[in-house]
Amino acid sequence: MPSAVYGNPPPDVIETPKGAAQLSPLIPGSTDISRLADASQDEIALLVPGGAIEARHLLAHALRVLRPGGELAAAAPKDRGGLRLKKTLVGLGCEVMETSRRHHRICEVERPAAALDLAGAIAEGAPRILPSGLWSQPGVFSWDRLDPGSDLLLQHLPTLSGAGADFGCGIGWLARAVLSSPAVSALTLIDLDRRAVECAEHNVVDPRARFVWADVRNAAKDLAGLDFVVMNPPFHDGGQEDRRLGQAFIRAAADSLKTGGRLWLTANRHLPYEAVLAEAFKAVTPVADGGGYKIYEARK
Ligand SMILES: C[S@@+](CC[C@H](N)C(=O)[O-])C[C@H]1O[C@@H](n2cnc3c(N)ncnc32)[C@H](O)[C@@H]1O
Repeated sequence: MPSAVYGNPPPDVIETPKGAAQLSPLIPGSTDISRLADASQDEIALLVPGGAIEARHLLAHALRVLRPGGELAAAAPKDRGGLRLKKTLVGLGCEVMETSRRHHRICEVERPAAALDLAGAIAEGAPRILPSGLWSQPGVFSWDRLDPGSDLLLQHLPTLSGAGADFGCGIGWLARAVLSSPAVSALTLIDLDRRAVECAEHNVVDPRARFVWADVRNAAKDLAGLDFVVMNPPFHDGGQEDRRLGQAFIRAAADSLKTGGRLWLTANRHLPYEAVLAEAFKAVTPVADGGGYKIYEARK
């Protein structure tokens, strides 16, 4: 009975089938749903992500990989896409039974035997080359434009040298700028999102680059003696603001740097990173402040 799950649906919202393969790109080691064969699954449970294009893409793939008669249970919080779940599934050709539990909308579907028109939704959410020439995919951070915080950092980033890392590399905007310096000898790009790492592999074609699909809080433990770290740290975990995540990134950077090594950081102005920077680094210099973002250089 092959079955799959996307994310970690709360057990009191929908049940995860026993032995289900994990499909979320935010869980390192998981299976990419686009690589599963058509009609290969009996049961799928989805905690559907909030982005509309991303959600439709996922639902279409789930219907593609379910066998006729296979069961789909899809849930999303009401304030993060739950209210449009049913309409999306109906639009993909399904009969839907909708219920509500614990602030989630839940849609249950038996995969119809008739052919469904899924190609449009699958193509709309697939990886593609943007007008910038970079690979990206809906669902990845700031997927169709350079984030203003990263932009500000790019305007102030000096020519770096030695070995470094890009924590939460996204599709590789910062890494591309870093590697434009011939004095950089190696760069480790780490991101929790498989889709981002795969796009970065297309966007950063450089023998000095190494790509790691992992949580920085674990992967940074394998790094030591770095000359620099660049980052635009995340401050959301599972859709909720979580300042501790960015603070953990800062501590992980400090642990990975050699004495005298530098962290270059961009962040939204409202995020409280100053105390942890002061605690983990010898010297902290505010470099820029504008458009709601701030840039710091911190020396270990
Ligand atoms: C604010 S974005 C910056 C992306 C990219 N550096 C840029 O400037 O466009 C933060 C990135 O961190 C990634 N991320 C979130 N949590 C993470 C974690 N625990 N470990 C590694 N990466 C993480 C996200 O997937 C996202 O790509």
